[in-house]
Parts: sequence; C-alpha cells; structure tokens
Amino acid sequence: MASLKRQNGTVETDIRLIQEGLAPLGVDLQYWPTGGSERLQALLAQASLDDNEKEELLQALDHYFEQLKRNAGYQTRDLIVIHADLPNLDAMLAKFDKCHTHADDEVRYVVDGEGVFGFVLPDGQQVELTMAAGDYINVPHSTEHWFRLTPMRRVKAVRYFTSTAGWVPEYTATPICL
Ligand SMILES: [Fe+2]
Repeated sequence: MASLKRQNGTVETDIRLIQEGLAPLGVDLQYWPTGGSERLQALLAQASLDDNEKEELLQALDHYFEQLKRNAGYQTRDLIVIHADLPNLDAMLAKFDKCHTHADDEVRYVVDGEGVFGFVLPDGQQVELTMAAGDYINVPHSTEHWFRLTPMRRVKAVRYFTSTAGWVPEYTATPICL
C-alpha cells in the first residue's frame, strides 16, 4: 500500500488522503489487487524473470491493460524487473533520480517490491510517494517528478504506453530537498 512522506516528516497512509494530496498535480493513484493465483505469486516472488515468465505475468494482469486500452487509448505494456544484483543498476537509476518531466504520461503498476516517486506540489513543498504491490499511478506528462528505489532495491512494475516516442527524461533544474 502506498504512503506519502511530506517535507515536514509526516507520513500519510490513507489512500484517500494521499489521492487528495496529489490531486493538484493531476496524479492518479489507485489500488489494483494483483490477485492470488499460486503461479502468479510464485513469479512475483522470483527476483528475476526470463522473457517467457515476464509475458506470463503480464498476461495474468492484462485485464487491467484491457481497461486502459478501452478507456484511455493505451497500446503497449511491458514489465520492468529491477533487483539489487542487476548489472549497471545504479547507472540505470541515475537517469531518473533527478527532477524531470516526460512528454507522455508515466503510467506504472507496481506488482512487487517498492518504488518511490517524488513530486513538487504547487506550493513548492516536496513529497515522496512510496509505492508497493498493487499501487497504480498515472503521472501526467510535463509533471516534475523523480524516481528512486527504497533500500530494498527491488521492484517489478508494469509500464503502460500510448507510444514510446515521448519516453525520455527532460531534466529540470529543481533541487530535491527530501
Ligand atoms: Fe519519469
């Protein structure tokens, strides 16, 4: 379940209050259960997955993708699997741990592990949203944000795309205060 840490150190865990807190940015946060089939849970428990296992996991969760296709024009999805033993992990993460924007929405569904999205609220305050299994987020295009792992250094997330053309970070100069 998601939690939101504010700059004053307070942590919010009520999803409705987190949704309200992020609403001024247009960020959409939802809780989507991953479901409980034994096979699905076994795949989620593995640190790494081969391409066939990734596709099997994606297909088990495609009822959510079908909704996004119907309702919001999404066309493709893939699965990112990040764990501590991945070669070049720090270099990969360094692309996203500074304030940046994208030309397209960043749409992620965390199904295992943890990931942290940071945001700058309209009043200049910064917050960090820790996402765990079952947390879905849509970060609208042009919204300043950053991403990092927790000390667990492990996350699996489905990424949904309308296209991949806009998928590069455009860095902003905002320093992160958290
Ligand atoms: Fe991003």
